[in-house]
Amino acid sequence: MMPEKNCSLCSLCEFRTKIVMPDGNYDSDVVFVGEAPGESEDLIGRPFVGRSGKLLERIMNEEGIRRSDVLITNTVKCRPPGNRDPTKEEMDACRPFLDHELSGRKVIVGLGRSACRDLIGYEGKMSEIVNKETTITVNGKESVFIPTYHPAACIYSRGSIAELKRTMNTIKNRYLG
Ligand code: URA
Repeated sequence: MMPEKNCSLCSLCEFRTKIVMPDGNYDSDVVFVGEAPGESEDLIGRPFVGRSGKLLERIMNEEGIRRSDVLITNTVKCRPPGNRDPTKEEMDACRPFLDHELSGRKVIVGLGRSACRDLIGYEGKMSEIVNKETTITVNGKESVFIPTYHPAACIYSRGSIAELKRTMNTIKNRYLG
C-alpha cells in the first residue's frame, strides 16, 4: 500500500517536489522511522540523504549496519514547508502507509520526537525514554518499539550520539544477528 503519485490526502502535497517512499530492505525485521523528508530528500525522493542522513548512516556503519539491512521511512512522505514538524493531521493522513510499512516487523526504531509522538503518543522529553524498549501493536501485530534520538539532534551533542550508537548496537546484536 502506497500513496498515489498525485496524492493529495493532506496539504503537504502543495509544497512537495517528490513523494519520499521508504528505502532499504522491505524484507528486514527492522524499520527506522524518521520525522519527514527535508530539502535534499524532497529533491531526490529518498529518505535520509541530507546532513542528518549522512550522520545516521555513519553511526549505523560504525555499528556494522548497512542501509540495505533495514527499512528506512518517515512519519510523513512529503516535506513540510521550512522543515517544520508535521502536524497530527498530516501524520494521520499518511498513517495507513506507515502502518503498512511497520506491520509485522520485529522491531521499530522511532528516530526522534515526531516518530514517538505519532507511534506511542509521547509528548515529553526524549531523554526520559531514549532506548527504553516498549511494545506497540500495528495492524494487530506486536512489535518491539525503541525510542531514540533523531540524528539531527545529535549533530551538536556527543551524549545524544552515544545514545543513538547504543540503539544501533542493540539492533545489530539483537535483531540483525
Ligand atoms: N529527517 C528525517 O526525519 N527524515 C528524512 O528523511 C530526512 C531528514
